[in-house]
Amino acid sequence: MTKPLEGIRIIDFTHVQAGPACTQLLAWFGADVIKVERPGSGDVTRNQLRDIPDADALYFTMLNSNKKSLTLDTKKPEGKEVLEKLIRESDVLVENFGPGALDRMGFSWERLNELNPKMIVASVKGFSDGHHYDDLKVYENVAQCAGGAASTTGFWDGPPTISAAALGDSNTGMHLAIGILTALLGRDKTGKGQKVAVSMQDSVLNLCRVKLRDQQRLERVGYLEEYPQYPHGEFSDVVPRGGNAGGGGQPGWVLKCKGWETDPNAYIYFTIQGHAWEPICKALGKPEWIDDPAYKTAEARQPHIFDIFNTIEGWLADKTKFEAVDILRKFDIPCAPVLTMKELANDPSLRASGTIVEVPHKKRGTYLTVGSPIKFSDLKPEVTASPLLGEHTDEVLASLGYSQQDIFNLREVKAV
Ligand code: COA
Repeated sequence: MTKPLEGIRIIDFTHVQAGPACTQLLAWFGADVIKVERPGSGDVTRNQLRDIPDADALYFTMLNSNKKSLTLDTKKPEGKEVLEKLIRESDVLVENFGPGALDRMGFSWERLNELNPKMIVASVKGFSDGHHYDDLKVYENVAQCAGGAASTTGFWDGPPTISAAALGDSNTGMHLAIGILTALLGRDKTGKGQKVAVSMQDSVLNLCRVKLRDQQRLERVGYLEEYPQYPHGEFSDVVPRGGNAGGGGQPGWVLKCKGWETDPNAYIYFTIQGHAWEPICKALGKPEWIDDPAYKTAEARQPHIFDIFNTIEGWLADKTKFEAVDILRKFDIPCAPVLTMKELANDPSLRASGTIVEVPHKKRGTYLTVGSPIKFSDLKPEVTASPLLGEHTDEVLASLGYSQQDIFNLREVKAV
């Protein structure tokens, strides 16, 4: 089967997570992704948090599947020459170096556009161009703080909190992938490449949209009725941390189930969806709440919502998180068990759908990774191993017209 992005050649000048997550996604969908890495060391994640001596770390293998690896010292004239050839024959260049690194290497946007006017140049930076922090290097947690996620995550009596989800890294990579695909479609119409830039701060803020909504509501009315601070607590003039409260109009909370005393994940998330109040009361064995004026409407429930959650925890006390969800699903109540990484890794549904996949690797043996979260009717993305450092150097150089002797010479000067 022909994959949708087959024939699109991508120079993958990315490292760590934000850029690699983007190019990995495009590789799954058929693009020919050539990862350009520094000879001898490569992407820093190859060595970070290794669990097997002398084998690429999982941090690398889980973000670089389906790619080729070309080692190239792009600071050497011989390396620059190879890169220039590659640029002339590629559709996209993706990079997430620190601010100014590509310019210092001699590959500014103007130069790249001159070398290949049809090429799309896609970048991730911590902050957008012209931002007063645009000189900063940025990692995940920095972005979560700069993008508004940290100030609104966690509990009101604790410090700003970082999410384990890669809102700054992989999320930015996904935004960049959308930008690249849009620019490729645009190129079909205009014949021209363009620059696509995504900042980690912007990408985090894009996911914190509802918190910016809340800031404006707070400024207008002085309170946020779906937050635990309402109606008994205090609001200042900034959106507070709301713990596990639901972000929309539906109150919800993480509730204890059987075994919570010893199992830190024996919890479910329970949502009190307004129109599901009657089924909730039936599920909980509290039919008298259905028409009780103190419970009947969302407004009436809010002042004592935590008493309601306490009652539900009483009901959950003799049920595991899985048993509880199995009962509640019959009443159409939006809920889920709090799942651990171990449970997800072994989840038969995720294995069957290809969301959790086993990948054979030359040095590591088989490892688990997250496959494509996007499902198609006519494409089943197959996840193949990440490349060893420089595994495809000869192949890529030969495809650019270099002879065996040329390749030998490039090795002699340590350019590849
Ligand atoms: N050959 C020769 N030199 C190479 C090379 C190659 N193949 N690949 C990279 N380099 C050089 C670059 O030219 C640059 O050199 P310079 O600083 O002397 O100009 C250097 O390696 C890379 O620098 P940088 O990207 O700043 O690396 P870093 O380890 O200091 O910083 C980050 C890492 C992630 C903080 C930084 O890259 C960054 O802020 N990136 C943008 C935001 C981002 O994506 N962050 C999230 C990562 S998950």
